[in-house]
Amino acid sequence: MYQDRIRHPALLSKLMTAKEAARLIEDGMTVGMSGFTRAGDAKAIPAALAEQARRQPLKITLITGASLGNDSDGLMSEAGLLHRRLPFQSDAVLRRKINDGEIMFIDQHLSETAEQLRSGSLAPVDAAVIEATAITKDGGIVPTMAVGNSASFAQQARQIIIELNLSAPLALEGLHDIYLPASRSVREPIPLTSPEQRIGAQAIHVDPARIAAIVITDSPDSHSSVLPPDRETAAIAGHIIDFLKAEVHAGRMGQELLPLQAGIGTIANAVLQGLIGSPFKGLTMFSEVLQDSAIALLDSGQLEFASASSITLSAAMHEKFMRHIADYRSRIVLRPQEISNHPEIVRRLGIIALNTALEFDIYGNVNSTHVDGTRMMNGIGGSGDFARNGQLSLFVSKSVAKGGGISSVVPMATHVDHTEHDVDVLVTEWGLADLRGLAPRERAPLIIERCAHPNYRPQLRAYFAQACREGGHTPHLLMQAFAWHARYQAEGTMFMS
Ligand code: COA
Repeated sequence: MYQDRIRHPALLSKLMTAKEAARLIEDGMTVGMSGFTRAGDAKAIPAALAEQARRQPLKITLITGASLGNDSDGLMSEAGLLHRRLPFQSDAVLRRKINDGEIMFIDQHLSETAEQLRSGSLAPVDAAVIEATAITKDGGIVPTMAVGNSASFAQQARQIIIELNLSAPLALEGLHDIYLPASRSVREPIPLTSPEQRIGAQAIHVDPARIAAIVITDSPDSHSSVLPPDRETAAIAGHIIDFLKAEVHAGRMGQELLPLQAGIGTIANAVLQGLIGSPFKGLTMFSEVLQDSAIALLDSGQLEFASASSITLSAAMHEKFMRHIADYRSRIVLRPQEISNHPEIVRRLGIIALNTALEFDIYGNVNSTHVDGTRMMNGIGGSGDFARNGQLSLFVSKSVAKGGGISSVVPMATHVDHTEHDVDVLVTEWGLADLRGLAPRERAPLIIERCAHPNYRPQLRAYFAQACREGGHTPHLLMQAFAWHARYQAEGTMFMS
């Protein structure tokens, strides 16, 4: 079964069990693992390492592309294996341990991890664990459904452990485009000028002597957990489509728009789904993750090409994708996340960036990560890579959360991931606020009237009016700025009765 996948004959001697391979990882090591938004993650080694950590002292720093599937982050956290974790996660157990202060989490722009490893700002990777479809004759590692940071880990690690996943169709070969920038003193511009362009190799090339173990697995990626579109997300999509039509009408872009980026999660997926049947044609995506909506847009014929770093799908879409992989492969490319999210390329291509906020304030500062400015949700992910550098940066959110007890539009964001300077447009189910060219005192009334839930508008208007009387370029009442969050903590609602 695996002989046609391990094409470098000498590497057949490196076959071993996950338990044996896990013993290569020692206490205190930094481990780089494949995996990006539940796709392309190593499946057997995380479980074997968790088992090992239950029996002997073993703590590691774990770096991945982004979140892992298969409950791996939860298993490793429960076992006490993780000392430090970066750059992104979305697991309930890991989240709890991060918020309890047991695991040190470094929340990072996803384009920056590889750069910090290359420059030596982060401790070097001792071992890389990479899921592969195949190993080529010359030792090239063909990734599966994600590239993430795998090429950077493989480049740096003293030893590489491969998980060869037999459930990954061989037809995945040719989907990937592996290009890494050189170190800074000799770096050239990245020669990518359109989403469909290929600039690198089809596999991650390493010295085969550094491949220390090959473990055979056959379980597929975890399926995406996003919820289907609902009334609110459909309304958000409607506002964005009207806005984009107006952009085309104003001559700022053509019917093919500009390359689209859409963040993770239920809302971003639903918004992209809303583009199906819209008048836009010849669309392209230059994003970090492709969800069901991207494949549906490819099927509708409106999306011509999609570039990303991973593909995360529901069970039904995954099955369809694998059945027609040969067709999709000509219209999709997966790149290292350093390239899919690179500021140089995002700025050059003029991306339309669409990301999700937990809350935003009346001046346009966005919090995507910290509930009450305190408790980590998932992480900033790639949203900052795209929001700051794209041509248009849109943030979406439902206007209320937790049954209406939380207003997503607040006087002052309790944590700021995206400053007002990085945010062009805010959208909720009630409407869209185009903030371009507006000063803070002009932004606030627009955000309140267009985006806030009607129940919360009087409170927001009153806060803004009183703050303006006190003065300032960005008027605030410091004693009241976080009173809404404090009220929610005390009374279970931000609403002032
Ligand atoms: N305060 C507290 N909780 C809030 C909240 C707020 N202001 N706004 C939303 N929530 C809660 C929701 O109630 C929901 O909780 P539940 O899981 O217990 O039901 C949860 O946050 C997720 O919200 P949801 O409305 O389902 O949106 P989502 O699935 O689209 O996720 C983010 C929203 C912000 C958490 C998610 O998009 C994210 O992690 N973004 C940061 C990373 C990123 O943008 N990456 C983009 C590049 S891929």
